[in-house]
Amino acid sequence: MTSYKCIRIDVDDRVATVTLDRPEKRNAMSPRLNQEMVSALDGIRRDPDIDVLVLTGAGEAFTAGMDLKEYFRETQHDPIAFEAARDTAWQWQYKLLRYLPQVTIAAVNGWCFGGGFQPLVSCDLAIAADEARFGLSEVNWGIIPAGLVTKDVALAMGYRHAMHYILTGETFDGRRAAEIGLVTSSVPRAELDAAVAELVGRLRGLNPHVLRSAKEVYRHSLTMDYEQAWDYIGAKAVQLRTRDPENGRSRGMSQFLDEKSFRPGLGAYARPGPASDA
Ligand code: COA
Repeated sequence: MTSYKCIRIDVDDRVATVTLDRPEKRNAMSPRLNQEMVSALDGIRRDPDIDVLVLTGAGEAFTAGMDLKEYFRETQHDPIAFEAARDTAWQWQYKLLRYLPQVTIAAVNGWCFGGGFQPLVSCDLAIAADEARFGLSEVNWGIIPAGLVTKDVALAMGYRHAMHYILTGETFDGRRAAEIGLVTSSVPRAELDAAVAELVGRLRGLNPHVLRSAKEVYRHSLTMDYEQAWDYIGAKAVQLRTRDPENGRSRGMSQFLDEKSFRPGLGAYARPGPASDA
């Protein structure tokens, strides 16, 4: 795999852990880090041997947001360079991460500020350390939460909470992030890896082709009207039957209706091959 300077990728048992790796800069997202993430995610999305992606940060931070020096200051008199840097950020934080075929989990280990909310919200699932500290700090230093942070944060935490944190720049911890729906749950820092592993284990027992379609349908139908969504979701359900090599739908029905070997309400059907042992 390509070697990177600002990120690290570890692949184990069909799970890719991508670590933002500039701990001395609190994993601030520089143009170079953003470029590396575009390359990494583009590789991962085409990799049939990866089912789950975990995004986390090295050291004390998940990410301290966009790099104030390299992303903002060094491009402030160069609109072309700024636009290029902005586009690279958009490519990975929004397009690639949000629509990655694999399920994505943000493991928020520490500081998460400003632009850091975008990759967090673009991940499908998120677990935070209780001790993690979040803040839409933009107003503290004279800018607005830009990119699509404002829009996406409101989607995750709802109008009142989003408006409160956008306007006050107040910080909050992992427990509060879970309370307001910004993350799925929060656990003590020492238990974060185990909580992520447990969630990964559950996902690994499910059919990845089904998860991919379920996620695509949820993401895309959000912005459709009801007529379009009805039609699109119907078509995607049919598409899944042709793109699922496991033929999970028939397999699941047979195991329930004919073999009477499992109850779909209580767990997953037995998958073929080694993944069924997960
Ligand atoms: N951009 C660029 N550099 C950053 C950075 C950012 N967003 N966040 C931290 N750094 C750098 C600091 O400049 C410092 O570099 P130096 O050692 O070369 O001086 C280094 O990371 C450590 O930062 P420091 O502030 O000393 O660490 P801390 O642990 O005391 O505090 C934070 C951590 C995250 C609270 C603090 O760094 C901070 O407020 N960062 C900015 C957060 C922010 O508002 N981000 C929004 C960007 S959209």
